Amino acid sequence: MREAQPMIRGVRGAPDILPVEVIRWQRAEAAARRILENYGYQEIRTPIFERTELFVRGIGEGTDIVDKQMYTFEDRGHESLTLRPEGTAPVIRAYLEHRLFTQGDLCKVYYIGPMFRHERPQAGRFRQFHQIGAEAIGVADAAVDAEVIDLLAHLFDTLGVDTWELQLNSIGDEACRPLFRERFARYMRGRKEKLCPDCLVRLERNPLRILDCKVAGCRALVAEAPNSLDSLCEKCETHFRRLQELLQLLKIDYTINNHLVRGLDYYTRTTFEFVNPALGAQNAIAGGGRYDLLVGEMGGPPTPGIGFAIGLERLLISLPPEDSKEAWAGVFAAVLGEEAFQMGLRIIQELRRKGIRAALDMEGRSLKSQMRLAHKECYRHALILGDEELKAGLATVKDMAQGGQEQVPLREVVDWLMSRERRGAAQEGSDR
Ligand code: HAM
Repeated sequence: MREAQPMIRGVRGAPDILPVEVIRWQRAEAAARRILENYGYQEIRTPIFERTELFVRGIGEGTDIVDKQMYTFEDRGHESLTLRPEGTAPVIRAYLEHRLFTQGDLCKVYYIGPMFRHERPQAGRFRQFHQIGAEAIGVADAAVDAEVIDLLAHLFDTLGVDTWELQLNSIGDEACRPLFRERFARYMRGRKEKLCPDCLVRLERNPLRILDCKVAGCRALVAEAPNSLDSLCEKCETHFRRLQELLQLLKIDYTINNHLVRGLDYYTRTTFEFVNPALGAQNAIAGGGRYDLLVGEMGGPPTPGIGFAIGLERLLISLPPEDSKEAWAGVFAAVLGEEAFQMGLRIIQELRRKGIRAALDMEGRSLKSQMRLAHKECYRHALILGDEELKAGLATVKDMAQGGQEQVPLREVVDWLMSRERRGAAQEGSDR
């Protein structure tokens, strides 16, 4: 006899997404794709792992991601590889490797997929999580910043994110950021005794990363420290002013958060986050910014860029519960008896071939439990076929979402259902 084996569980912080949840993911992804493509973005798919040095150089040593969170391993050929913790560095690598800059001034790409960071799992924070990200590479004008922000605002409104707030900052460029870094480091050096041990190291290696620290004492110091806006050079100030004017023109509300530097080293000028205050500690549903030096640092010609990434898990918990019956679609044939089963089978075959979601009972359930199943699986129509209906050449069609039922001649039932289903889908499309 075989011994009972212990069950192997999934890895902490890397949750499964079960079929009942997947529908919400697909809806959010589909809306994002549609909107991104309307704004001129094309999808790019890069591998899930890259050479470790790509992230070390792109994101920066001294950042939490590079120092503490990467899933790095040596493969069988003794090469150091890393599961991607984010999507910007891989996209820039692909942009340079495939010379996408030769295809026009502005390269606009988006990606959807899993990212990996070894963080302490908690609500809204995972080790495998998913991002919808976009990068617009090649143009320095603040109009691109405004467009990227407008895209996110549009997506969040379309999906019905209950509350979102846009926080905005500018962290300067190669001309003025060193000045800010120096003023900030000088301030912190004078208050060393109040910094946590991690921040003492940050002070030496990468002082601006103190801005990421979550320790209360360090946060209190940061609140009083010099901020980047006070050190901006004229060009950065003009850029930031233009961005704000364009956001006002587009009627997008924002607040300035002059401590928003974000946890990656590649940013210059604009940084922003969309937060949902209802989410607690992990409340950033999307973050991004400009990175005008990154392409050059990755070995390419000097090229400006800007992008963002949405955390899909956090986006989904910010959406209203999906109880809208407008989302119901498809036809469930509830059949009684073999003759009705065969008629139902032919009808759902035809509906499926015409692109309609359709199903029928294959387990000989009672009518009541077939109707219960159709309801549970959110079918919009139940097509009821029994002996009497067949004799009369009729089918009973029940509208599961709105209630009410009608008798429809069997000959016409496929066309009738098709037009009802199409109307429902068009209605839903215009609602979203
Ligand atoms: P990020 O702020 O590190 O930026 O991540 C973007 C979003 O991913 C966050 O706002 C959050 O919603 C989600 N996220 C990050 N870490 C986790 C986690 N452990 N669990 C769940 N969700 C998480 C970037 O990744 C940049 N590449 C964005 C960008 C693109 N900047 C310019 N272009």
